[in-house]
Formats: sequence, structure tokens, C-alpha cells
Amino acid sequence: MSQLSVNHLLGIKGLKREDIELIFSTADNFKEVINRPIKKVPSLRDLTIANLFFENSTRTRLSFEIAEKRLSADVVNFSASSSSVSKGETLIDTVNNILSMKVDMVVMRHPNPGAGVFLSKHIDARIINAGDGAHEHPTQALLDTYSIRERLGNVEGKKVVIVGDILHSRVALSNIYALNLLGAEVMVCGPSTLIPKFIHTLGVKVETDLRKALEWADVANMLRVQHERQDLKYFPSIREYSQMYGVDMNLLNSLDKDIVIMHPGPINRGVEITSEVADSPQSIILDQVENGVAIRMAVLYLLASKIDR
Ligand code: NCD
Repeated sequence: MSQLSVNHLLGIKGLKREDIELIFSTADNFKEVINRPIKKVPSLRDLTIANLFFENSTRTRLSFEIAEKRLSADVVNFSASSSSVSKGETLIDTVNNILSMKVDMVVMRHPNPGAGVFLSKHIDARIINAGDGAHEHPTQALLDTYSIRERLGNVEGKKVVIVGDILHSRVALSNIYALNLLGAEVMVCGPSTLIPKFIHTLGVKVETDLRKALEWADVANMLRVQHERQDLKYFPSIREYSQMYGVDMNLLNSLDKDIVIMHPGPINRGVEITSEVADSPQSIILDQVENGVAIRMAVLYLLASKIDR
């Protein structure tokens, strides 16, 4: 396969395993490029990409921008704080702005689930979803599974536990889809109030005891509690959450094997993982960030290759 089966990257749902494998092999090449002294290639010269961020972001926005610049695209950035955004108005405005700017590709983060799908139906540009509310965050799941493949040689057959706020996490949902497609075994672990009722329909194991989950796992992907998406109190206090669902060195050292520790960032040090764990040799958190650029270059490159030029 030399082309993606999709014209937009709206979610991992809808992708085939071969799409992910193509993205990975393309990212392998770009990873080599970004480690050269001259990190730039001309692949996307003359294409204009708009990064539309209606929700806060540091690393995802930077990572996309670096990826676009390494591919020699022209880049325009737009950010708005989510509080000033109302769904219908903003997306229609966005559509009109994009149409008049003759943009070829749009990378969009938006608080509303399905915002990317909506946009893809109304404009003639390739859309990449950089996070739509608590729904999907496909490039994060691609870089996460790519980082597992890099550290462990393969994703197939590996046991991955996703720990924390599963209910409000787009990283969890996209990771579950990607890990399932690649043949990993998936477990979610967290307080039962933060595990959605529909989770069993996704074919994952559920565990509320963190120690048991870690004893089972090869990899633990530790998520941040998404306070900004919580309208209720889902657990008594942060202190209690971190006692029950936080990973420290004592817990890691008490396991009879070395598990790989991941985190999509931003980390709340001392809540879901301690600083010592985040900075330990078992942690691949900075590899995830590095791989994010190569993965985003691959996705941009593969979608751009489907544009008539
Ligand atoms: C994640 C996100 O925005 O969903 N972060 C990211 O993309 N770097 C996870 C999070 O915010 O906790």
C-alpha cells in the first residue's frame, strides 16, 4: 500500500491496520531526516496549512508547526480560547475564512466532538483532527503506538494499560482503537467513576486496582485528570487519587519486571506519576515527543500526496 485509504485524518476509527503501518514506515524515514544536520525537505513546498486551535495546546501545536516547517509548507496559525467559542458560529466562520485564504490543509483542535468531520464536509481542504473534545486525538495515538513499537520492537501481542481519566480522555479512545487495530491487548484502569459504561463494547479489560493492572502490563500509559472537562466531582481529592492511581518508584520497583511508562503530557508531576518515574530510564515520555514530529510529518506528507497539484 502506498496511499492512505482516507482523505482526512479525523480519527483512528475509520483507519485500517495498513494505514497505520504506512504511516509508521513513512515516519521511520522522516525520523532519519530530522536527525540530520539539515532537517528540512521540500515535499510540501507551495502548500498552505492552517493550524486552527480553538482549545489550549502547547506540544501538539508546536509539534504540528515544526512538522509542517520541516516539510517546507507555508503555515498560518490561529488560536482562540475555548471560552469565547460557540460551536455553530465559529465553525461557519472558520469555513468562510479558510475558503477565502485558499488553504490546502487544516489542522484543527476544537472542544466539540465531531468538529473535524463537520469541517471536512464543508471545505475543500485536507483536515487533520488535533483533538476534538473528549472524542479522538489520532496523531497522539499514532505517536504513542509508534513509540511502543520503537521501544519493544512490536505492538502486536503487547499488554498496554491506560491509567486514569478514561471518561474524559480523547487520548484513551484513540489509543484503544489504534492498539486494537495493531493487535495489542488493552486494559483501562482508574476509579470506576472515570471509566465509561460503554467501555466493554471496545473489547478492553477493566481493572480498578492499579497494582494488579501494572502486574499484568508491559506498558502503562498514564493520563492526566481532565479537570477542565469535569462538571462533577469524580473522586474525593487529588491526594486520594494520587495515592490510589499515582505511580511512584516504590510501586515500580516492587513489580517483578520493568514496565514501560508513557504519558501524553502535560504531566502533573506528583499526581499521576512522580518526577522520579517521569525521568526514569523506564519512561519514554520524551521519545513520544520526538516521535510526534516524525509521525505528524508522515501524516501531512501522505495526505498531501492525495491533493491534485
Ligand atoms: C492531551 C490532549 O490534549 O488531549 N495532550 C496532548 O495532546 N499533548 C492530553 C491532555 O491534555 O492531558
